[in-house]
Formats: sequence, structure tokens, C-alpha cells
Amino acid sequence: MSDVVRQFPEGFTWGTATAAHQIEGGNTNNDWWDFEHDPDSFARESSGDACDSYHRWQEDADLVASLGLDNYRFSLEWSRIEPADGEFSQAALDHYARVCEGLKERGVDPVVTFHHFTSPRWIAEDGGWAAPETADRFAAFVERAAGRLDGLMTRACTINEPNIVSFCGYALGAFPPGRTDGVQAARDVNAVFVDGHRKAVDAIRAAAPGTPVGLTLSMTEYVAVDGGEERLAKERKLMEDDFLDATGGDDFLGVQTYTRTRVGPKGALGAEEGVPKLVMGYEYWPQSLEATLRRAWEYTGGKVPLWVTENGIGTDDDAQRIRYLDEALRGVLRAVADGVDVRGYTCWSLLDNFEWSFGYVPHFGLVEVDRTTFARTPKPSAAWLAEVARTGALPQTRAI
Ligand code: GCO
Repeated sequence: MSDVVRQFPEGFTWGTATAAHQIEGGNTNNDWWDFEHDPDSFARESSGDACDSYHRWQEDADLVASLGLDNYRFSLEWSRIEPADGEFSQAALDHYARVCEGLKERGVDPVVTFHHFTSPRWIAEDGGWAAPETADRFAAFVERAAGRLDGLMTRACTINEPNIVSFCGYALGAFPPGRTDGVQAARDVNAVFVDGHRKAVDAIRAAAPGTPVGLTLSMTEYVAVDGGEERLAKERKLMEDDFLDATGGDDFLGVQTYTRTRVGPKGALGAEEGVPKLVMGYEYWPQSLEATLRRAWEYTGGKVPLWVTENGIGTDDDAQRIRYLDEALRGVLRAVADGVDVRGYTCWSLLDNFEWSFGYVPHFGLVEVDRTTFARTPKPSAAWLAEVARTGALPQTRAI
């Protein structure tokens, strides 16, 4: 099938992503640290030193540059920048400014996420994201941080996967605050997150004018099984549509996808027989990226350009990672060919890192990290992605 397009559009961007709490180490002043140390919580282990990236960020920046990727998406740790209500750490702000500058010196565009799952302990103690005033407190932090990073960010992401934080934290109990208060509680938290997002967009536009800003949303390919359509629509509203509705006027929408979700009349079903299951408990389903890009584009009426801000696989089999990325990227090409405006791809993750309640068991990294020496060793998938980024095309190994 030599006539098939394997080439990504001119200007398509290539990057990889991490999050502060998953790689920095020593983030002891946030809600996750407490959750990890609560023996009754879902968390398997402490994040501890993570990848020691707070100190080794230059090595990380070197790695991204050595792979020839043009951007690196990382997050700010709110609890370092504002360790107590209204008390800002200039040293922490300067640290993140240095990270941005260091990336730019290496020819890598900094993509900054302002909230990636963790909130300072003082926020958690004051009601967390169930408290409406958290949206304003978040916006105040965002304004301060964006002011320091003005001119240094290539793109800004306000809140990472608020849908996951609200559902896992307030309905499922698998994230802090570990509550199992039901769907209505998650819906209420969604509203605070939406408010926080809108206020953060305004804050970034005021403090760092000209920086493209958007939300990054966890999406899944929803499939109705045995008459599950109605249930599916309800679930999708809570998990996706509440947030997609809040992206009007943004400069981009970040789509983050890992698998699909099958829904029957009574709710989510597990993996289908015969489909391989991954260490996270869900199906190996790389096709989901194409499906979610198409849905995001359709639902938002093609008004907001899309970026894949996360996609990847937790596996010990790096050849499986290459197959997954290849498959997912073929789907991106098909969507692009049909007019979906996808501007770039970001692989989760640069490093094997702290996978929240799952601890250090799932390995999402393009680069392996020794848990004792913190030595970083790129895997074959890193070289594979580097080659795709260099050529802007998928290898000719298989038909699309
Ligand atoms: C997520 C998070 C990441 C995870 C990744 C793999 O967006 O869920 O951004 O922190 O590590 O998704 O599960």
C-alpha cells in the first residue's frame, strides 16, 4: 500500500510528557503524599524520591533534546510554589523558570501544566476541589506562576484530567481525598474544576499574554454493549462532555487517551475476552486515540485545534510499546486525513515514574530509570519515536 500517507503534516509537533509529583521526588506537602502514607488508602507505595528530577531536570532536558523531540510537557508543583495559603516561594518559581530556559537553550519548547493531580495540603485541608473557593485560589496561584514564566512557555495547560481527579477522588476513592460519595459528588466537583479552568485561562492570558492555553482531558473510546447506549451517554457526560462544554474560546484542547471503555446497561464492563489486558487492568486498545480525536473534534464543532497531550502504554515489553505507538499514530494520520485538526503528538512518558495508586509497577517510560541510582537508560521505543519525529513519518513496516 505504497500510496498510503505515512507523512504527518508540516509543522506537526513531537513531544513527551511528565508530571511533577511523578518524577520530582520529595513532594511531601501535597494531598497525594498523605494518601500514599495512609495505610487504608488505595495507594500501593510512597512516591519517595521518584526520579529525583527536581535535581536532575537537566539530564531530563538533555534526554528530550537527544531524542530530537521539539517539546517537553511537564507540570508545576503547586505545593512547592505556594506552600501555604498566599505564601509564594520565589526559589520554586525560579526553579521552574530555569527548567523552561534550559529546555529552550536545548531547542525544546516548554509546555507547562499548572495542575497535574496534586494539590497543596492546605487546599486539601480546606475542602479540596469540593470547595468552590478552590477555583479562585487556584487561579491566584496560576496568575503568579504564569507571570514568572511569561515569555518562557510555548503552550500552557491549565488542569490535567480534572475528570479523573473528580471521579477517582470523590466517587471511586482511588485518588485523594479517597471519598466514595457517588456520582453527584463527582458532578459537583466537576463544576468547581470547570470554574477553575475558566479562571486559569483568564489568569494565564492576563499574566502571560500570547501563550496558547487549553485544558487536557482524559478521553476513552466508549463502546455500548448489549443496549448500554443510555448508560454510556450518562457516563460520558460526567466524564467528558461537562469539560468539553467548557473549552469554548480556548486556544487548543489536549486529548489524552489510553484505552476504550465498554458500557452495558448497568455500567462499565471489564475487558472483552480475547483482548489483551495491561498491567493497569484495562485493554490494549491503541485504536482509541483515533476514536477520541474524532469525537473531540465532532463534539466541539471543530472550533478548537487538538493536541494529543498524552498517549502511551504501561508495559514491561518495549516491543509492545512500539507496536502500540505505531498503531495509535496510524489512527492519528487517518483522522488528520479526514480533516481533524491535530497539531501534535505527546508520548506519555519520558521516564518510568510514579504511577499514582499503582506505585512504580507500571512502566510507561521511553526511558528506564534505575530506582536506586536514578540512572536513565533509553529504551528502543525512544529511538523509534525519535526516528518518527525526525522524519515526520511512520516507518514502512506495515500497511496502514
Ligand atoms: C494521566 C496522567 C498521568 C498518568 C498516565 C498513565 O493523565 O492519567 O496524566 O499522570 O501517569 O495517564 O496512566
